[in-house]
Amino acid sequence: MLKLRDLVKHHPTGGGEPVRAVDGVSMEVRAGEMVALYGPSGSGKTTLLTLVAALVAPDSGAVLVDGRDISILSDAEAASYRLHELGYIDQAFELLPGGDVIQNAALKLWVTVGVRRGNREVAPMLERLGLGERLCHRADLLSMGERQRVMIARALSTEPKLLLADEPTGNLDTQRSREVLELLREVCRERGTALLLVTHDPQATAYADRVHVLRDGRLAEVDADAGPLTPAVAALAPTLTGAITGTPSAPSAPPR
Ligand SMILES: Nc1ncnc2c1ncn2[C@@H]1O[C@H](COP(=O)(O)OP(=O)(O)OP(=O)(O)O)[C@@H](O)[C@H]1O
Ligand SMILES: [Mg+2]
Repeated sequence: MLKLRDLVKHHPTGGGEPVRAVDGVSMEVRAGEMVALYGPSGSGKTTLLTLVAALVAPDSGAVLVDGRDISILSDAEAASYRLHELGYIDQAFELLPGGDVIQNAALKLWVTVGVRRGNREVAPMLERLGLGERLCHRADLLSMGERQRVMIARALSTEPKLLLADEPTGNLDTQRSREVLELLREVCRERGTALLLVTHDPQATAYADRVHVLRDGRLAEVDADAGPLTPAVAALAPTLTGAITGTPSAPSAPPR
């Protein structure tokens, strides 16, 4: 479904050495699979997602979605790809000024199926996300965790075949995080969605089928069955209980 081939993106800095944000990443996410990309702050996770979302062009390498290289699309083609094929839960909560919860969540559906049908179709997911009591509340007055769930509903609304999630539980409490991660995993299974989940929360990695570790723009690990751990990953392993040594259905113990 999603294949990254030797992807490189260096950010220029004002005169100094460019930041090697993504530095030769190759990986794959299959349909119905939940893959976690785990790495410390500044390791290149968001940059990688913006490449997959065709918001930014790579310096070199390819982003293949169902065999099509989306890194060479025109602006119009990229916009259509994001609307019809992709769900992107990003770290910026872009809300319609003054819009209510339903309107904000249904925004993509307004374009694809129309306003009335869009509003109707998005409501069950908002209820599943615990926002049933807030459907007509102004979204810009919600708590950060509630806004994050509106964004999750929007990203899932068009039933995309590829879902990117950038710290989707970053503003949620432990219980709500669990529910959201379980929901995302169910969506993958039910709809055959390929999910790339970016996180620096070791608990979140326990929900994934496979875990990749990103350090300074490079992948340090491929998957749980990949054989001996590299020293970099071995150092992280205690915080990845279960995710590296197996794929339990319950979250791992908190990091030590
Ligand atoms: N547009 C940009 N111009 C210059 N440098 C950038 C740009 N975007 C990101 N960077 C740098 O690239 C590196 C990777 O950034 P990125 O946002 O991808 O990290 P991240 O893993 O998502 O971090 P976090 O967990 O804090 O969100 C960082 O050192 C960052 O400062
Ligand atoms: Mg980030």
